[in-house]
Amino acid sequence: MGWKTLDDVALAGKTVLVRVDINVPMEAGRVTDATRIEKIVPTVEDIIARGGKAVLLAHFDRPKGKVVPEMSLRHVVPALQTALGRKVVFGEDCVGAPAQAAIAAAATGDVVLLENTRFHAGEEKNDPALAAGLAALGDIYVNDAFSAAHRAHASTAGIAGLLPAAAGRLMEAELRALEAALGSPARPVVAVVGGAKVSTKLDLLGNLVTKVDHLVIGGGMANTFLVAQGVEVGKSLAERDMADTAREIMAKAKAAGCTIHLPVDVVVAREFKADAANETVDVGACPADAMILDAGPATVARLVTVFEGAKTLIWNGPLGAFEIKPFDAATNAAAQAVARLTRAGALVSVAGGGDTVAALNAAGAAADFTFISTAGGAFLEWMEGKELPGVSALMA
Ligand code: 3PG
Ligand code: MG
Repeated sequence: MGWKTLDDVALAGKTVLVRVDINVPMEAGRVTDATRIEKIVPTVEDIIARGGKAVLLAHFDRPKGKVVPEMSLRHVVPALQTALGRKVVFGEDCVGAPAQAAIAAAATGDVVLLENTRFHAGEEKNDPALAAGLAALGDIYVNDAFSAAHRAHASTAGIAGLLPAAAGRLMEAELRALEAALGSPARPVVAVVGGAKVSTKLDLLGNLVTKVDHLVIGGGMANTFLVAQGVEVGKSLAERDMADTAREIMAKAKAAGCTIHLPVDVVVAREFKADAANETVDVGACPADAMILDAGPATVARLVTVFEGAKTLIWNGPLGAFEIKPFDAATNAAAQAVARLTRAGALVSVAGGGDTVAALNAAGAAADFTFISTAGGAFLEWMEGKELPGVSALMA
């Protein structure tokens, strides 16, 4: 696919610099979701099994080129040791003498983690001097950070041109899953796109209508499309100034042979809160003082029919206000249908984006999807059809 994998590089006796994304959620100094840490284990184990020394490069949060103690990767060391079942030697800086000392101190089978690359201003500027400082530490560069691949930084892009470079196992899995979903998918392809605002997903919708056979629009975004068709949505969240844009997307979809699916019935309430009194009405019948908080059961039934006719599905964003019950019902039911069809071998299903994964987990459906991306912003940019600098750098 244009990039090398770990299978293409000799690792014995080599110091392997591995860019990982362990930008995990933390509360009170503890990791609250170790998914991203667990996902890098296969790459690290493969390097060690083949006689290499794994040196991890990573960012944490957005320190903006300064040393911010709360954003030290030191806090991630315990969770990393647990996930790897190995000793982690921490380097106080990602370049220079502290980095070299940590690498030298690591015994066979130990893993080195270097301090936050974003403590250096050169990281986000893709500064050649920082890239050279990083490259000087090792023999081979492996990028396993798909979820940071939308950043053209020294540790994700610049360094790749200075050493033999390859994709790690997670990067490889992400790229293969995305290729299967939108690159050369089995058809028909359905995209499910939800979330609050059309304005943040314009490029994504514009790209998708040219690539997929069915586009399901949910969440607040659906209201904007309904408004664009002259449907009254009462007090619902809707971007009324985006109506022209929504009509353009619908015209583009029609020209490309992509069918857009909007709700046919909706769950409405007067308050945005859990267990608010609610009713299900036809899509044109939202009372003037009410707001749409979810798609209704007739909509879900139609979506399930579309899913049953499809071979590939890609999902980003919830269908309703999934964070408050019972307005998670449509998202849950639709996600469970995707899980069932995937389990049966009828559907290849790929999902990504922060809220999306949380919603699919809450629905108990995530484990049955073919692939769940670890990426937020990178997944969106990829769905927008944009080139990801971290991936391009591996091809150069
Ligand atoms: C993420 O958490 O999505 C990645 O680690 C990228 O982080 P960033 O948005 O701060 O570049
Ligand atoms: Mg980055």
